[in-house]
Amino acid sequence: MHSKSIIPLALTTLGLQALARPHCNTQANGKAIYMISNEQKNAVLALPIGKNGLFTPGTGRLTETGGAGMNGLDANNQPAVPDPLFSQSSVTIAGNNLFAVNPGSNSVSMFSISRQDPTKLTLVGKPVAVPAEFPVTVAASLQNKLVCVGSSGAIAGVSCAKFSSQGIEEMDDLRPFDIGQTTPPVGPTGTVSHVFFSDDELTVFTTVKGDPAKNKTGFMAAFPVEPSDCEAGVSVNQDGVRSTPDGTAVLFGSSTIPGSNDLFVTDASFGGAVLSNGGNSDDAAKKAFAVKGKGVVDGQSATCWVAISPATKTAFVTDVGVNRLVEMSLEDASIKKVIDLSANGDPGLIDLRAAGHLVYALSPGNGTTPAAVTVVDAVTKKQVQHFQLQGISFGKNAQGMALLA
Ligand SMILES: *[C@@H]1O[C@H](CO)[C@@H](O)[C@H](O)[C@H]1NC(C)=O
Ligand SMILES: *[C@@H]1O[C@H](CO)[C@@H](O)[C@H](O)[C@H]1NC(C)=O
Repeated sequence: MHSKSIIPLALTTLGLQALARPHCNTQANGKAIYMISNEQKNAVLALPIGKNGLFTPGTGRLTETGGAGMNGLDANNQPAVPDPLFSQSSVTIAGNNLFAVNPGSNSVSMFSISRQDPTKLTLVGKPVAVPAEFPVTVAASLQNKLVCVGSSGAIAGVSCAKFSSQGIEEMDDLRPFDIGQTTPPVGPTGTVSHVFFSDDELTVFTTVKGDPAKNKTGFMAAFPVEPSDCEAGVSVNQDGVRSTPDGTAVLFGSSTIPGSNDLFVTDASFGGAVLSNGGNSDDAAKKAFAVKGKGVVDGQSATCWVAISPATKTAFVTDVGVNRLVEMSLEDASIKKVIDLSANGDPGLIDLRAAGHLVYALSPGNGTTPAAVTVVDAVTKKQVQHFQLQGISFGKNAQGMALLA
């Protein structure tokens, strides 16, 4: 039986302290962010965002998912840390529900988020089994009441299910990916990166990393959401289409670009790119993607996660091995600004989200350096808070970030 314990936290802020100033503007700040611990007893850490956009010590809450975490393996067959899942979006939100993967127990958990207190999560039903191994990324559509999970293990691919206020229904048949992996997988190359919906929620996209050393080609898969009869509701096409845009190799975290059919993708082998639909089909998912613009990030180790700021209408990308945000154009992925954050002492950044003028980026640390969330003002390009997470079961294995708007 799953336990639903809520552990009170002692959170401390150390290092560079918040330059607490109000961020009053037309774009609203978020209400909270959520990340998974990916520890043996997997849990979601919820951190409420204050009116000024910043975090306050002692206000976070850990809630167990009822499932287990697990680490992928690095090139030396050691548990990969940080970035144990080689993915973006191991946790996501649709409406007032939150979904989190359990890589070590091949399941996905659904929570409801309290309207009074966004840190108060209640499990809805039990974690639901995915027909695959090592689930790493999850997307949910409120409009279609669909949740889709991407898995990177010996059985890899994407599976979807309907959800309701009663919980997640049975997951559908796997859309398999022949990535030749083990459980846990050896990464980061040759693994599933990110499942996400198009802005109209009519396509499920999935990025899969190639493995250049093994001549394995990466790709972007697009599965159309299809209407069915009223009884059955919608379903996700089983076959989809795949494209490998020229010049990409290790496609990682991605984002739709609001107001456009283009996608912003990161590629761990060089930086970021804007992809456009190359074909002339009316159905976005049937068109192949082509590179519209490419930004090569000098000095990168692996550029893997992206969030688009509503304030600047630019992409911010992170690198697990370099502690900085790189701001890139949504037109052609050209580099607009490099925001060096090395003074805060973190080794690098993974998942991130943007709301209002602010960008929230997770550093899981590395075991010696504790986990932290760095808050950067997207307009002034300055760090405004470095919020360390200590004394809790949340650190080097942590992954994912969802934001409640
Ligand atoms: C990959 O392909 C290239 C060109 O076809 C070939 O020269 C190379 O030996 C291949 N490498 C592996 C590991 O199969
Ligand atoms: C952890 O990160 C810190 C800061 O970058 C670095 O000084 C330290 O060597 C790292 N430790 C390990 C075990 O990688």
